[in-house]
Formats: sequence, C-alpha cells, structure tokens
Amino acid sequence: MWRYTFTFLSLACATGVAYLVPILPESITLPLPHRLVLQYAEPTWLENIAVRSNGDLLVTGFQPDAPLFIISDPASLAPKSKLLHPFGAVKSLTGITEVSDDLFVVVGGNFSGITPMPESFSAWSIDFRHHQEPTIEFITSLPKVIFPNGLTSPEGSQDVVLIADSTLGAIWNLNIQTGEYDIAVNVPELAAPSGASNGFGVNGVKTHGDFLYWTNSAEAAIYRIKIMPDGYPVEGAEAEMVARADAPFLDDFTIDTKGTIWATTNTDNRLLAIGPSGQTVTVAGAATEMTVAGDTAVAFGRGMKDKHILYVSTSGAINNPVNGTLVEGGKVVAIDTKCY
Ligand SMILES: *[C@@H]1O[C@H](CO)[C@@H](O)[C@H](O)[C@H]1NC(C)=O
Ligand SMILES: *[C@@H]1O[C@H](CO)[C@@H](O)[C@H](O)[C@H]1NC(C)=O
Repeated sequence: MWRYTFTFLSLACATGVAYLVPILPESITLPLPHRLVLQYAEPTWLENIAVRSNGDLLVTGFQPDAPLFIISDPASLAPKSKLLHPFGAVKSLTGITEVSDDLFVVVGGNFSGITPMPESFSAWSIDFRHHQEPTIEFITSLPKVIFPNGLTSPEGSQDVVLIADSTLGAIWNLNIQTGEYDIAVNVPELAAPSGASNGFGVNGVKTHGDFLYWTNSAEAAIYRIKIMPDGYPVEGAEAEMVARADAPFLDDFTIDTKGTIWATTNTDNRLLAIGPSGQTVTVAGAATEMTVAGDTAVAFGRGMKDKHILYVSTSGAINNPVNGTLVEGGKVVAIDTKCY
C-alpha cells in the first residue's frame, strides 16, 4: 500500500517535467528544481532573509551598502523588489528575524571587508502591524556585541531577540522593549576552534520547538541546546551536536516541519539538506557552479502557493569567487523542495 502511495506522490512531483521516469520511493532527483526570483546589480551581497505572513520576502544587504529590500509575489513570474529602507547610518545589515506577528528586528553596523568595526552595531524594529508601510525605529546600539550575525526569536516570546556573535562565540539576548541585552548562551560549541582556518564560530541561529539550533561555521557543525521561552538555556542544559557537514563552512539555515535542516555553505556555493540522523545531501549548487554562488541564508515561503519553496539569498560569491574569478550580483533563488 505504501508503495502505491509513494508512486502517486512521485508522479505528482514529476508533473511539469518533459518526461516521466519511474522514481523509486527512496530516490530523489537532484539537484532540486530551482528558479531565479530576482538578481541585483553587482556587487550586492545579500545576507539574510525573513518572510512576512503575507508571503513577502524581507532581504538584508551586507555590501556595498545596507539596504532592506522587500520582494512581493516571490512565487509569481513577476516578483517585485522595492528598497524598503536604506539604513544610511550603517554600511552593512546582517541578521533579520520576526519577533511577533509582522514585527521584525534587523541588526547592522560597519565592517572593513568582513571584519566588524568595534562599537558600530545597532538594532532596529521594522513594524508592519499598523500601516501598509512599516514603521522603522531604532531600538538600541549594541556596543558589547563584536560581530552580530544571525538572529532568531524564541517561539513563546514577543520581545526577545537572540543574536549570534560570530567572533565572541556567544549568543546575546536582546529585549526589544527595554533595549537591554546580555549573554544568553556561552558554551565552547559557539566558538571557532583554535587553529580553525577562519574565525567564525556561531553564525546562523534558529529556534525550533524547545531548542535553539546554530551553525558553527568554522566547524561546519550544527548544535542545539534546550532553552526556555525567555531565550535563556534550561538550567543544566548542554549543547549537543546535531550534525557535522562535509563542507569548509556553514552559513545560515532553517528547519522545516519534518525536522530537515536546510543549510547554506556560502564559500563553496552549495545548499545542503541535513536529515534527522545527521546525513547530509547537496541539493543545489556546487563549488564550481553559480546556481547559489555565495549562498548566505534560506527561508521557506509563507504565501498561498510557496510553502514548499525555499528561498536562498546569495552574495554573488564576491568574497570567494567561483573558480577563483567568477562573481555576480547577489540574488534570491527559489528551490522547489516538494519532492524531497
Ligand atoms: C558607519 O559608517 C558610516 C558610513 O561611512 C558612518 O557615517 C558612521 O559614522 C559609521 N558608524 C559607526 C558607528 O562607526
Ligand atoms: C569552473 O571550472 C570548472 C572546471 O574547469 C568548470 O567545469 C565549470 O564550468 C566552471 N564554472 C563556471 C561557472 O564557469
């Protein structure tokens, strides 16, 4: 019985391709189908991506300036991008997350190349709750944070943002009502190991159920720790490794409803799917391909038609040119995960 069920699903998945081939239940056709949503001028390093409940994408820029773009109708044949806010006081944006329904927080500051400038970082709220056009407000400067990178928010909280600090190897807890922030998680698994080829420890952070997950870039590993709704670890909780990828780097990631982790590798231009038992599959891109060149972050669609579409932001490989020389403008790519 299950066999027929799978066959049916496979055929449903295969519609739209030019010919049908029998697909075994265990087999998945790779790479997954992909489509360009939008590409920006070169050089544009897109850094992170969040999705509104109406399906619009919010995309942050890391170089050469600090734009916040909004992309409407990303699943359509004619997606539209608009510069929502230029954030002229800083040169780079990094993470973005939704804290409560239609209230987002973004962090930015200044870098020299990819080296963070001390005491240059701040957090802002992007509030869509009252008007079509969002209200953008300064929350606080973050002078103690060395390299704010990925952001997330605990599922049970309306006002807490967790901020990955890639250089310090810690996760900060920011209360957006009071502007107060302190270190929430400080375990060795957040730091780049000594002697690592790059100094990036924790990079992406995501809450999922009772756990806070993160990538450790230099280790290409994913860890998690049990947290409380206020974002601090449960007393006595320890970090546990979820997976270690065969990659030189892991950037940001997301976790789907089945528990599959979708992670970007950035420096070698691949998108990975990591199963619950840690097995890692390259589902799009390759070290020598431009498909998701310099992929930085991922987020699933939230519109009517795109809940199975994974949106990938890219840097255009400007920091690590493909084959040593090839770069392009940063882009958003849609990956169809329906058949995975
Ligand atoms: C960041 O860079 C901008 C643009 O160069 C500059 O105006 C601003 O003062 C810098 N901010 C900080 C906090 O260093
Ligand atoms: C990079 O080089 C490899 C090996 O020569 C080649 O197969 C590949 O097509 C190149 N990539 C691009 C994007 O041109």
